[in-house]
Amino acid sequence: MHVLFIVRRMPGVEQLKEQAGIAACRFVSDGMSLGLGTGSTVRYSIIEIARMIKQEGIDVVGVPTSEDTRQLAEHLGIPLSPIEASTSLDLTIDGADEFDPNFDLIKGGGGALTKEKIVANASNSMVVVVDETKQVSTLGEFDLPIEVDSILWEDVRDDISPICPGEVSLRGGDEEPYITDNHGFILDCSFGPSISDPESLEREISEITGVVEVGLFVGICDAVVMASNEGIETLVKPSGRL
Ligand code: 5RP
Repeated sequence: MHVLFIVRRMPGVEQLKEQAGIAACRFVSDGMSLGLGTGSTVRYSIIEIARMIKQEGIDVVGVPTSEDTRQLAEHLGIPLSPIEASTSLDLTIDGADEFDPNFDLIKGGGGALTKEKIVANASNSMVVVVDETKQVSTLGEFDLPIEVDSILWEDVRDDISPICPGEVSLRGGDEEPYITDNHGFILDCSFGPSISDPESLEREISEITGVVEVGLFVGICDAVVMASNEGIETLVKPSGRL
């Protein structure tokens, strides 16, 4: 007797990211102005947008959230525009480090949180692309990134320490700190999964002198496109804008 085993290969994380990145582009349509996020998942959305321009002839303009994204989008031939005070965008697609049941996010793992928040806030809607590892019940397992003024980082660290139950560390270390596109530094703050009121925490941290931006995105995300081994799920916020 012959026994035939059929091995169904589960998609790896990279494939899940690609699936989510591409699936999110169903929210993109002709004539839109688009915020282009930063990271390894939204990278696939940017590649898909370039394909839609070339093969489907859609006419869109992108506003990049980082120098990395600007270079990628330019290389792929996506028409770009810089962000200005008056910019209003139809849609931003971006990744996230965590999202909770209220569609609130931790972002900034890639260090681009400040421009990402400016662009997302200038958009009529925001779609986030993730794999299932980013879904949490309470934010904070991923260290909260905070962009800070490079001169004041030690003062900010001292002011944040009493608020943060875990370690507050300078990304890259003080020998060779990570430098953002805005020439700021990043403090990664270990809250643990304890951020049950992200809105008030964001407000409290934002009030500290020297804080440039907090990686909490509260009430900004309208939908999450999440890839898992079960397939693609699009979660739309009931009270959102989509
Ligand atoms: C960059 C970000 C990214 O969107 C976030 O870190 C997720 O990235 P990835 O898709 O590579 O996991 O906030 O500042």
